Amino acid sequence: MNIVKMDASHISQIAEIEKNTFSAPWSEVSLKRELDNDLACYFVAEDEGEVLAYGGMWLVVTEAQITNIAVREDKRRQGLGTLILKKLLEEAKQRYMMGVTLEVRVSNEKALSLYTKNGFVSEGVRKNYYEDNEDAYIMWHYFTDPESEAVGI
Ligand SMILES: CC(C)(COP(=O)(O)OP(=O)(O)OC[C@H]1O[C@@H](n2cnc3c(N)ncnc32)[C@H](O)[C@@H]1OP(=O)(O)O)[C@@H](O)C(=O)NCCC(=O)NCCS
Repeated sequence: MNIVKMDASHISQIAEIEKNTFSAPWSEVSLKRELDNDLACYFVAEDEGEVLAYGGMWLVVTEAQITNIAVREDKRRQGLGTLILKKLLEEAKQRYMMGVTLEVRVSNEKALSLYTKNGFVSEGVRKNYYEDNEDAYIMWHYFTDPESEAVGI
């Protein structure tokens, strides 16, 4: 199993996982567009050409925003979600981001547990964020302390 940058060969399998996982899945077209997006960075866990998990983010000025992260259904709870998340955090840190943020459904206990274990804290709620009106927690993982930066102003 290797963690590699997403390329065109991964798109159809990722779209399939999206379809099986999310109520508003990303299409192949949207995923392909990310390959030409200079702000986007996606990683894939692959094994002999099979996509097992993936995750991506947009690096916007000093903030990295995780757009999606998912593990193929038959490969869950084997540490792959953690591997992809850690890879995204490492890359964001190397690219001098001040922190990483994401939105997650308030009912998504598995993902909430994954994020909390990896240093994310909830900093607020976006009401009715999803198409079915469920709320989202806004979570952050900071590399630098935002309070201490403010002191210098
Ligand atoms: C959330 C998700 C990415 C986790 O990936 P995973 O590879 O299964 O997770 P890991 O094996 O790395 O587990 C890491 C931690 O996540 C939590 N977790 C994962 N699966 C869980 C489950 N079925 N029940 C409870 N906690 C769970 C646990 O805290 C786990 O740590 P532990 O094994 O030490 O208890 C995966 O369940 C998934 O693809 N879900 C659907 C897509 C999704 O919800 N994405 C997030 C959108 S914001």
